[in-house]
Amino acid sequence: MTYSDLSRSISELIESHGTPEREVYLDHENSGSIFPESLKAMESAYKWGSRGHPSITHLMGWMSYQSLYKATESIASAINCGPNEIIYTHSGTEANNLAIIGSASSSQNRKKILVSSIEHLSVIFPAERLEKYGFKIIKIPVDGEGFVNLNFLSQHVDKETLLVSIAAVNHEIGTVQDMKAIRDIIRDKDKNILIHTDACDALGKIPLDLKTLDVDLASFSSHKAYGPKGVGALYVKEGIKLEPIIYGQLSTQKLWPGVENVPGILGFSKAVEILHKNFGEYISRMTDLRDRLINGILEGVDHAILNGPSGGKRSPDNVNVSFLYCEGEALTVELSMRGIYVS
Ligand SMILES: Cc1ncc(COP(=O)(O)O)c(C=O)c1O
Repeated sequence: MTYSDLSRSISELIESHGTPEREVYLDHENSGSIFPESLKAMESAYKWGSRGHPSITHLMGWMSYQSLYKATESIASAINCGPNEIIYTHSGTEANNLAIIGSASSSQNRKKILVSSIEHLSVIFPAERLEKYGFKIIKIPVDGEGFVNLNFLSQHVDKETLLVSIAAVNHEIGTVQDMKAIRDIIRDKDKNILIHTDACDALGKIPLDLKTLDVDLASFSSHKAYGPKGVGALYVKEGIKLEPIIYGQLSTQKLWPGVENVPGILGFSKAVEILHKNFGEYISRMTDLRDRLINGILEGVDHAILNGPSGGKRSPDNVNVSFLYCEGEALTVELSMRGIYVS
C-alpha cells in the first residue's frame, strides 16, 4: 500500500466513522491532550521572545537562551537534578537511543548490556542493534505482573556489565518497578555499571526524585506528560560520559546538536510544573478513576482479565485488560464507533 493509498483509506474511515455524540479519550498512554497552559507558553514563545536560535549572539538569540534556561531550571527542580544534567532530544525514543548507543560508544571494554524483556522497543531495538558490534545483550525475565526477576539480575550483572536498562514504569501494563532494590543489587556488584531507566511513563505518575533514585541516565517524553509532541529529554548524571550519536550544527548542548525546540520545551516545562504542583491531588483522582474502571470492567464483562499488578504497584493512570475470545483491533474499532478511544 502506498502512502497516498493509506491516506485515502484513512480519509474514508474518518468519513464513515462520523462524530459520536459523546467521546471519551482513554489513550493518553500513546499520546493525548496537552495542558492549555502549555499551549499558551508555546504560543507566546513562537510569537515573540523565544523565536531566535538560542546559540546565536543577538537579542532574540539571548532571549531564546534565557527562556530555554528558565524552562530547564524548572524541570530540573521538579525532578531534583541540575539543569546541566538535562539533554533535550525530540522524543523519548531519541533519548533512549542516546542512552543505550551513547553508553556503548563510550565504553572502553565492557560489552554486556542487560535490559528487561518488557522494555519499550526504543530500548530493545538499539540494544539488539549493538549485538552487531560485539555487545552481548541479556534480557531479564519478568513475572506474571511484569516485575523483573531480581535473582536473575543479581546472577547476571558482573564486572563486564556496561549498562542495565529497566523502565521505572512499564508502558503496557503499568508495573511500577522496585527501582531501589534494582539499584542496590547493581551497585553492590559494581559501582561502575551504568543504570538507565526509561522514565517516559513515570514522569507525573509516580514520585520522581533523581537524587534519591540514584540512576545514571533517565529518559523522558513530553507528550506522555501532557506536554507537546516533539520534545524528549535524557538526564545524564554529572560525570557520566556518553558519546553523541548524531553530529551537526552547534547548539547549547554537545550531546544533541541542532536547534532546540524552544517553544516545545517551554510547553513541556509548563506541563511538568503543573503536574508537580498538583501531584498528590492528581494521583489520587487518577487512582480512583483507574480502579472504578477496572472494577466496572471486571464485574460487568465476562472473560475479562486484568493484566499487571493492582494498587500502589500499578501506575495510577494505567488500565490493561484482556478480553478472551475477542480480537483486540476489532474491539478498538467497535469502541471507537461508540466514542471510546482505547488501544
Ligand atoms: C516507556 C516509553 N518509552 C519510550 C517511549 C517513546 O517516546 P516517544 O513517543 O516520545 O518517542 C514511549 C512512548 O510511548 C514509552 O511509553
